[in-house]
Amino acid sequence: MSDKKNLDSAQEASGESNRMWGGRFAAAPDALMERINASIGFDKALYAQDIAGSVAHARMLGDAGILSDADVTAICDGLDTVKAEIEGGNFDFRADLEDIHMNVEGRLTDMIGDAAGRLHTARSRNDQVATDFRLWVRDAIDAADDALKSLQSALIDQAEAHADWVMPGFTHLQAAQPVTVGHHLLAYVEMFGRDRGRFSDARARLNESPLGAGALAGTSFPIDREATAKTLGFDRPTANSLDSVSDRDFVLEYLSAAAICAGHLSRLGEELVIWSSAQFRFVRLSDSFSTGSSMMPQKRNPDAAELIRGKTGRILGAFTALATVMKGLPLAYSKDMQEDKEPVFDAAETLMVCLAAAAGMTADMAFDRDRLAAAAGEGFTMATDLADWLVREAGVPFREAHRITGRVVALAEEKGCGLEDLPIADLQAIDARIDDSVFGVLGVDNSVRSRTSYGGTAPDNVRAQVASSRDRFLS
Ligand code: ARG
Repeated sequence: MSDKKNLDSAQEASGESNRMWGGRFAAAPDALMERINASIGFDKALYAQDIAGSVAHARMLGDAGILSDADVTAICDGLDTVKAEIEGGNFDFRADLEDIHMNVEGRLTDMIGDAAGRLHTARSRNDQVATDFRLWVRDAIDAADDALKSLQSALIDQAEAHADWVMPGFTHLQAAQPVTVGHHLLAYVEMFGRDRGRFSDARARLNESPLGAGALAGTSFPIDREATAKTLGFDRPTANSLDSVSDRDFVLEYLSAAAICAGHLSRLGEELVIWSSAQFRFVRLSDSFSTGSSMMPQKRNPDAAELIRGKTGRILGAFTALATVMKGLPLAYSKDMQEDKEPVFDAAETLMVCLAAAAGMTADMAFDRDRLAAAAGEGFTMATDLADWLVREAGVPFREAHRITGRVVALAEEKGCGLEDLPIADLQAIDARIDDSVFGVLGVDNSVRSRTSYGGTAPDNVRAQVASSRDRFLS
């Protein structure tokens, strides 16, 4: 049942014209033509959507009096059997029947004869594939949303557990100001929340039914597009038949949301790679998400994090591929559009495995509290606190406070100590307005505790944000 075997057997079956559109053709397609043309090797993934669409269409044709009840029953029962055969692995996918639509209909014809030929009344493969693919992408969006929610949940749990653990915050990957681990993790919760928003926006625009648009111009049969739309869970039928079969915006929107999301996953992956390195030692990734080296016994490699980072290229590539396919296509359908599926299937699978791995890694990771606290104070990260103290307690304008603090940092650097280790006499020699109470703001814990502005890093803020994140994203 391999595609290769199907191709070979189709090649042998030369001389017979295609059963679906062969009316005006004398000979079967050349084997090479079949190879470039056939999409069954990948679009069989649409079987469930294709059958659901056909059942909805057949029932509607029956209700509209276009098909007899007997035909509708035969078609729907037959389609049930086809579905069971596919799911049971007993279906012979044939490349000579090109795609999933004709494979399903071909098998239906074998089973129920003439009635199967009536199923395609008032329908074209153009509106059929557009319908199937919308249904498929809709499921992919729902799956991504679920997975993103699980990832957010893991991040929020870790943020809660580490609401008051301090770590260095960075800009330019240079130590900047101390932050709390919980605050850092909640930044990702926001990013993934926006990803969910993008998926949900895309879903709302996607959720219109192209079924009944026909090849491009609509149909002369008295079909009920509202009815099929409703049966398939769409909000309404699409408004313009030409647009219905020409449009793949819904895929591009899914892929762009997926690509942005993959970018976020990649940044998380990158941070985990850095944090788990021997030089940082902020975090230990669990054994389940690390691998050893075949040569260097000491190694613990963060492979999953690296792969999450690396796989971003495939998802962004899928967007680029389809955007390139679609540019410059005249309305309505062109066969180029068959190239819409493989990149999306790959991107969706890739996104799902990355989301699951990110959630697993997040739930399992163990932070090193002492190491984080020590690093939080390295690199004079309390310099801003000193400048702020001068502004607040001594009425010094911020720019001047910045200059004074710069001199304090230079002195500490020269002495090879932290700001908090400088004797008060040294501080006062730089600026007489500094007194003992400055030491109250020079510890990392005090520093993060003081950052209570809305959205700031203070542990109390983090705890409140944990609660509100659960509310906004998990309820
Ligand atoms: N396999 C085709 C695709 O995925 C189905 C639509 C074919 N339509 C056509 N007019 N040849 O795009």
